[in-house]
Amino acid sequence: MTTTTKLIPVQDVLDDRLRPQQVRDLELRHGNEELLYGLDLLGVAGPFRRLSPWELEDVGGQRMIMAASYAATPFGEMHPELTEFVTEFMAKNRAMTLPQQSLSPWRAALEANLVALLASQLPSHADSQVFFCSSGTEAVEGALKFAKAWRPNASYFISFKGAYHGKTYGSLSLTPNPEYQDIFRPLVPGALTSPYGDLEALRTLLRRVGPKNVAAIIVEPIQGEGGVILPPTGFLRGVSDLCREHGIVSIADEIQTGLGRTGHWFESAAQGMDPDIVTLAKPLGGGLTAVGATIVRHGIYKKMLGGLSSKRHSNTFGGGALSMAVALKSLEMIVEGDLPERSLKMGAEGLERLRRLQARHPGLIQDVRGQGLLLAMQFHPMVGLPLPEPAKELAYEATAILAMRELHLSGVVANLSLSSKRTVRLSPALNIPEPLFGELMDRVDDFAERNPKASSIMSNTPPDLLARLAAFAVKKPKKRTPSDG
Ligand SMILES: Cc1ncc(COP(=O)(O)O)c(C=O)c1O
Repeated sequence: MTTTTKLIPVQDVLDDRLRPQQVRDLELRHGNEELLYGLDLLGVAGPFRRLSPWELEDVGGQRMIMAASYAATPFGEMHPELTEFVTEFMAKNRAMTLPQQSLSPWRAALEANLVALLASQLPSHADSQVFFCSSGTEAVEGALKFAKAWRPNASYFISFKGAYHGKTYGSLSLTPNPEYQDIFRPLVPGALTSPYGDLEALRTLLRRVGPKNVAAIIVEPIQGEGGVILPPTGFLRGVSDLCREHGIVSIADEIQTGLGRTGHWFESAAQGMDPDIVTLAKPLGGGLTAVGATIVRHGIYKKMLGGLSSKRHSNTFGGGALSMAVALKSLEMIVEGDLPERSLKMGAEGLERLRRLQARHPGLIQDVRGQGLLLAMQFHPMVGLPLPEPAKELAYEATAILAMRELHLSGVVANLSLSSKRTVRLSPALNIPEPLFGELMDRVDDFAERNPKASSIMSNTPPDLLARLAAFAVKKPKKRTPSDG
């Protein structure tokens, strides 16, 4: 039966015939309306058009420098080296596209290269094995299952305050953020939280629950979504040592930090950790495809997927030829561009500039943090009065949101942090040309010159926009479809 439904022709999208207003209407109608409406009110929703891998054009025609995308675009938007490779792949590839239970040259090469890269930093991983999936949260789910299968009688998992590991049930249970967790309780049982950076508190927690009852400890080498929080020196090595001492599986969640973002191939290894499991995603897909990976020590891998149990954990798309090929090419581009080293150096310059900016505008910027090209600014709350706790956090959040708008007006696309309402992050592409990086930092200066104090952020926001944002913040989501009730 042929359908009479009028569909949007793919060619219309390809040929750029969908007008921005149409895109907005469709997205608000059928997508995440509330999120996109809020961003649209702020004027930061786009849709953007790519001018170069590192520059976008806003709907109003303004040229923007890209410093967002949650650290997932190592080469910016559709870098020609990557897209030319994809074109060549499409023309030449003869391997199965979704090999699943077959051998695959693309998967084989990526497994080998990832393990070789990890083993070059941590030789104990020379015979590790890799499980592929299609997102960060799925890589974490895999890690948790590997750990549980390794220690089936242990019922606890430990993560850290401020952590972000994803939003599917297992990873969400270890992302201790009431905003994301509360409505979904009860969560996966056994999730415990310890303060980030505090080894003594971790030891106390282990003594309280009994180390043999703990399956795994999962840690971000630097908390990205938590607001770019760097742990004290020795913390990660200490976590690793404690895990080894008690036979607990150590998981380094390198989904945001790994593959060069923070200036090293694996930030955990650079900080003296020797994790049993490493999770990767974001940059692995080159900003083009969805690829996640869980790299696991041989013995732990075999315990879950050994012998007849080898189908105990599986998926349809993990290991697909296109995503493997893009990931292989991405790794090669990171190696050839020496991007971890470059990120470390440019990030240090960027952080220095942010520090100088903070010194010039102490009434605006409360703190700057970062390593490599993962940089963060925290602003003073724009309402100066001493506020009680929930209102204080709200003031920080409103400041960060409006600061993102002000940065946008200065031509910078920045990100908020998912688990820290106080922070605006800058995470440009690892290969951003130096002059453009300089211009990005100049634009951040311009933003600060226009907003010399936190209160200026509010006074620079038009009153009618403030009123609409306030109304949006307190209104209940609309009921739109019959199934919504
Ligand atoms: C450290 C870390 N783990 C896991 C995730 C979840 O990844 P995804 O959004 O691909 O599910 C993120 C995403 O920001 C992350 O930063």
